[in-house]
Amino acid sequence: MTPRPLDVDTVAPYLLSRGLIDEEDVFAGNVCVESVAGRNRSFKVSVSNGRGVFVKQADPATAGSSGTVGAEGAFYRRVREERSELLSSIPALLLHDERASLLAVELLPDHTTLAAHCRSGEPGFPVRTWQELGALLGHLHRTEATRGRGTVASGPGTPPWVTRLHRPAPSMLSTLSQGGLAVLGIVQASPVLVGGLRLLADEWHPDTGVHGDVRGSNVLVRETSCDEEPAWDIRLVDWESQQFGDSLWDVACALETLVRYWALSLQVAAHDPRRTAISSSELRAAGAAFWEGHIRSQGSGYSTPDATRLAAYCAARLTQSAFQAAADRDELPRTAVLYLQISENILAAPGEAAAELLALT
Ligand SMILES: Nc1ncnc2c1ncn2[C@@H]1O[C@H](COP(=O)(O)OP(=O)(O)O)[C@@H](O)[C@H]1O
Ligand SMILES: [Mg+2]
Repeated sequence: MTPRPLDVDTVAPYLLSRGLIDEEDVFAGNVCVESVAGRNRSFKVSVSNGRGVFVKQADPATAGSSGTVGAEGAFYRRVREERSELLSSIPALLLHDERASLLAVELLPDHTTLAAHCRSGEPGFPVRTWQELGALLGHLHRTEATRGRGTVASGPGTPPWVTRLHRPAPSMLSTLSQGGLAVLGIVQASPVLVGGLRLLADEWHPDTGVHGDVRGSNVLVRETSCDEEPAWDIRLVDWESQQFGDSLWDVACALETLVRYWALSLQVAAHDPRRTAISSSELRAAGAAFWEGHIRSQGSGYSTPDATRLAAYCAARLTQSAFQAAADRDELPRTAVLYLQISENILAAPGEAAAELLALT
């Protein structure tokens, strides 16, 4: 029989039974459980001495989630068994309970998401964080490349699902919201947007183990200081989409996150004069720093990826974001239109977008 899914009341007793929290802490009222919204059932369990556990359990109501949480658990286990250099870039694995489709990792209580870090309101955009993120992705791809194609548990990956967005299955159409249908209609009517999705499918070139879902909520950042020099501890979480894939997709997903933050900041500032938009020079500085950090981390002998292909992948990822922003909405959201417009602009001249918008030179 499949164990019952955990809830806020049963997480602590479960962790106690697995020895991951102490009885004294539970009885002293030192344990605090917070539910985290997402496609899985996730909980932040903090213990007052600063330790804590992040629990993620597949939601029986979400199709495919037990498979993806299982793949994430297998990834954490493999990295731990190999004593991989990646261990310092991810939370430590505490438990993978396959029967319960459940994963428990070290809670990172002092980290914030990249999204929150970039909105933190401090003067200036955190350009150096983007440089570190570029380097971290390079480090991931280089470390995983030494393992070879056959060793990633999930095997060689296929191009991202968005490459099939313009040819939806009837089952998807029957459940899609009005907002989702509206985005689909715009994409199908645009040869440029469809061309971007086709390019991603045609150019997809698996070359190493990739994260597969790089986005602001899956990058956790904590500022640290080393000899008064600012430094950052960056961890990648949510390895459910990990596969042997195209490293340029991870890089493009990070850059797309940057482009979206910039676009959203323009939209917010246009409606609220108290908010400041990310300037195009800050966007360029962050893009250039990210790219420089990424290339430098690969060491000598690395052949720099084609920035034009990268910009086109970034545009395809924007189309995906537009669809995701609309997928559960009754009307077409403004942000979805904004993302589609930027995607189309990039695809109209990807080489120029790489050089002028993102400063990838
Ligand atoms: N180890 C952790 N410590 C603290 N917060 C975390 C940790 N892992 C994930 N989170 C937070 O929980 C959110 C959801 O976790 P994630 O693994 O991304 O699940 P989902 O598949 O639901 O997106 C993340 O966006 C992040 O903000
Ligand atoms: Mg996530």
